Amino acid sequence: MIKISPVTKCEGSLIPPPDKSISHRALLLASIASGRSEIRNLSQAEDVQATRKALQCLGKKLRASGPAAVIEGGGFPASGETIDCRNSGTTARLLLGLLAPEKLSVRITGDDSLTNRPMERVISPLKLMGANISYLDRFGYLPVSLKGMKLHGVSYELPVASAQVKSALLLAALRATGETTIIEPIGTRDHTERMLTMMDADIEIKKSERGAEIKVNPSQLSPLKIKIPGDFSSAAYFIALGVLRPGKSLTISDVNLNPTRLGFLEVLRDMGATIKVDLEDVMPEPRGKIVVTGGTLKGISIERERIPSMIDEIPLLAVVATQAIGKTVIRGAQELRVKESDRIGTITEGLRTMGASIDALQDGFNIEGPTILRGASLDSSRDHRIAMCFTVASALANSDSLIGNEECVSISYTDFFKDFKELSS
Ligand code: S3P
Repeated sequence: MIKISPVTKCEGSLIPPPDKSISHRALLLASIASGRSEIRNLSQAEDVQATRKALQCLGKKLRASGPAAVIEGGGFPASGETIDCRNSGTTARLLLGLLAPEKLSVRITGDDSLTNRPMERVISPLKLMGANISYLDRFGYLPVSLKGMKLHGVSYELPVASAQVKSALLLAALRATGETTIIEPIGTRDHTERMLTMMDADIEIKKSERGAEIKVNPSQLSPLKIKIPGDFSSAAYFIALGVLRPGKSLTISDVNLNPTRLGFLEVLRDMGATIKVDLEDVMPEPRGKIVVTGGTLKGISIERERIPSMIDEIPLLAVVATQAIGKTVIRGAQELRVKESDRIGTITEGLRTMGASIDALQDGFNIEGPTILRGASLDSSRDHRIAMCFTVASALANSDSLIGNEECVSISYTDFFKDFKELSS
């Protein structure tokens, strides 16, 4: 349990922790590359530890000293293992695609939250490619057993806008026979595509009237040399607090500026926030600086096309909307129901306890602002993003709050409370 008191400022400078999504991908792709890969500034968060442990369980040699890791490519020496992906959906879903064409047999499982998250969205298209994956307890959920098979390319249109599903299929396609085409009607984060291009994969991306068309042919990957940029999704909590503390300025440095991740920033601008972005590098991932200045925001309606570019920040947008003038409507975000918790339910319940005017919809929220939030006793439901959202809401409230199960922030952001203290005191 942690006590959070109201804060009057969120200012100074922050280098956010390394990006979690890019860290997972760097480890997984390096493990099948043709030589030794070097990764700098690798995330130390628990989710990425789950990916590291999974690879070690598969017999991979991984030398790491803090955030610098060296990993040998060439596939997987071990088989017959049970891989525990713990809380990490990205680990589980991407591993399914990575291992489906390997000569091995494994069981894949996770913690109480992960074993209740949908897996059929990945397993069904992998089966179309020839994968042999069986559910061990309940149809659609981990644990599963996977026996590596020869896969063949398919043409597949993603029915859910999910970067995890897209990435799992891209990984499987690298070692299938023939071409795989993935059609993505609504764009999601493209870190896998960028990294595959960097590693010389045979990948081509075209825009068509159906969306993005990604074609992949079997490829041998070159080793990876990468420095992971800072995680925008982690920085977002302080950006939210920063834009709501008038007259104060906050600088976020060395942060990933991939446009497929910046929906939250654009929405804040549309709500009236003053935000300056300096792009310092573009390849393989855009990175740079964000400067935010506090002010007054107005409510907004979010169209469903914008949701994937801010999927992890929508609960935070709900917190921000309680302070904006007028009505905010968020629709098309039903995916939040199947994240680490039912994020529509958990954030609505917490914000209502604090006195916010918020109604949950099946696929989003209606929020009326501004409201003065009052301190309350809250619980994160062991969901890292909800714990950080409740910290921001508590910092905006008029009296102290208590947040239970706050330690889960380490799933994505180990130093979150330390950085919160430094920027707000
Ligand atoms: C992620 C994709 C998103 C996001 C998750 C990380 C990724 O999930 O919510 O935190 O690294 O690919 P979905 O693909 O399920 O939308």
